[in-house]
Amino acid sequence: MSVSELTPDLEALVAVARAVREHAYAPYSSFLVGAALRTSLGEVFSGCNVENASYGATICAERSAVLAMVANVKRPASASAKWRPAISAIAIFTDAPTLAMPCGMCRQVLSEFVVSALIVVANPREHIVVPFEQLFPFPFELDSRGLGE
Ligand code: THU
Repeated sequence: MSVSELTPDLEALVAVARAVREHAYAPYSSFLVGAALRTSLGEVFSGCNVENASYGATICAERSAVLAMVANVKRPASASAKWRPAISAIAIFTDAPTLAMPCGMCRQVLSEFVVSALIVVANPREHIVVPFEQLFPFPFELDSRGLGE
């Protein structure tokens, strides 16, 4: 399954994830990961893993992309502190011999911003496309949070 069989939108997102992977700071694992997100309004944000000498302080590429999105997304003028951007597609790129699926913590963090999204997990040789809901069907949610504005 080559990446060129994807829709042009998803293929472009994989290209962003592949490029940002080169920025990964992974001196301890040497495992470089890139992630890119598209919002429902078409903006694209990306992130890479940033490791730390205190291993547990490492941040994964997927969460790094979410942080970039929240910090930089265009907000409606009327947005309150409860407003949230919606992620409509996610691409993850590694050079691993097998496809590297997002970790559980990243799935939970992504779920905060996904209503419905396709997720592409790719390496230079293959990829899969999975609906996010299939990847993480039962997220933790606070009943009181309300679904955006
Ligand atoms: N990593 C990610 O970037 N995303 C994941 O979903 C799992 C793991 C990173 C964290 C660490 O820098 C390296 O991969 C090895 O675990």
